[in-house]
Amino acid sequence: MTLFETKNLSVTYRTARGPVPAVRSVDLSVDAGQTLGIAGESGCGKSTLVGSVLRLLPKSTEIGGEILLDGRNVLDLRPGELRAVRWAHTSIVFQGAMSSLNPVMKISRQLAEPVMLHEKVSERKARVRVGELLEQVGIPASRMDQFPHQLSGGQKQRIMIAMALACRPKLILADEPTTALDVMVQAQVLMLLKGLVAEMGLGLILITHDLSVLARTCDRAAVMYAGRVIETGPTAEVFGASRHPYTQALSGAFPAIGDPSSRYAPSGLGGDPPHPNDLPTGCAFHPRCAQARTECATTEVTLWPAGPSHAASCVLVRDRDTAAVPAPRSPAAERPAPADGAEDPADDGAGTPADGDTDGDGATDGETEAAR
Ligand SMILES: Nc1ncnc2c1ncn2[C@@H]1O[C@H](COP(=O)(O)OP(=O)(O)OP(=O)(O)O)[C@@H](O)[C@H]1O
Ligand SMILES: [Mg+2]
Repeated sequence: MTLFETKNLSVTYRTARGPVPAVRSVDLSVDAGQTLGIAGESGCGKSTLVGSVLRLLPKSTEIGGEILLDGRNVLDLRPGELRAVRWAHTSIVFQGAMSSLNPVMKISRQLAEPVMLHEKVSERKARVRVGELLEQVGIPASRMDQFPHQLSGGQKQRIMIAMALACRPKLILADEPTTALDVMVQAQVLMLLKGLVAEMGLGLILITHDLSVLARTCDRAAVMYAGRVIETGPTAEVFGASRHPYTQALSGAFPAIGDPSSRYAPSGLGGDPPHPNDLPTGCAFHPRCAQARTECATTEVTLWPAGPSHAASCVLVRDRDTAAVPAPRSPAAERPAPADGAEDPADDGAGTPADGDTDGDGATDGETEAAR
């Protein structure tokens, strides 16, 4: 069952300096019991995407397309309906959760509040539920009357996950839930999230900069760049056999533990991602792409199939794997499987030289209109 789906989702902030198209034409979906990881450089629109799902963005923000939770478009919900959906259908573990707890309120009160509001139960019953929630995330119920400063960072993170579980949601959006945690606690928190997905059949969207976290936790991955999903598919394929040059660069920037060659020669990516209101024309990645062709500065890219459930928005993929058939909206959807042989995306032969023609001259805002 599809819990969550976006269709052609675009989010544009309205600012004094003009529109900021932070998310552009994004199609994603998550089924019950499925985990989707979203990765991408800082500023590519990950938190904006999450914020739009429960309409938590500034009022002036323009949201286009559809955001479907169990088939209902969030953008059509009235305020009361929206309140009912928040926490009860979909909950969020916010980025920077470590500082999201109220320092002068006991844990029990912070966890009981959503339970009392949504389930309309007495304070006594809510405390029982708080105890259950704490045990569920591996914290003794006896600690419920402590204040946040009496807990370690990892425990606070678990409290945030407990809060997200408080109203038995079907879908959890976790925005960098393990950033700033040490690796052992990180592993515990991830195991906890994975376990909850498996036990309770939840859907999970996990946003992280850490590709090893994503690889360990998520069935499917979506890589974002400049507000768009540029590659999506099974996690092992997206990072093990990346088809988009940006995903390849992202994977290459991650050192492999125990591999001295990667430790001493990390392959990064020059330059910065573009600001959303100053996007390059054509493929937004072309000024930084070592494999760019001249046409990349003008070609409107879309997600092209790169395997049975793998897609990437690069003309190299279009030319190699498809006859320019755009990918279906939902990455989870079945599509005919083109033979997807050896997975080296850079070996397209003579047709795909890194010809160095692209020196990033196009700095106009050509894609902004198309996004809305
Ligand atoms: N309230 C806002 N008003 C205007 N622009 C905003 C607002 N919030 C975010 N942005 C811009 O939208 C773009 C996407 O921001 P967002 O926070 O979604 O990125 P992100 O991928 O979550 O980054 P990070 O990995 O650093 O958390 C950025 O260019 C950011 O400056
Ligand atoms: Mg963010």
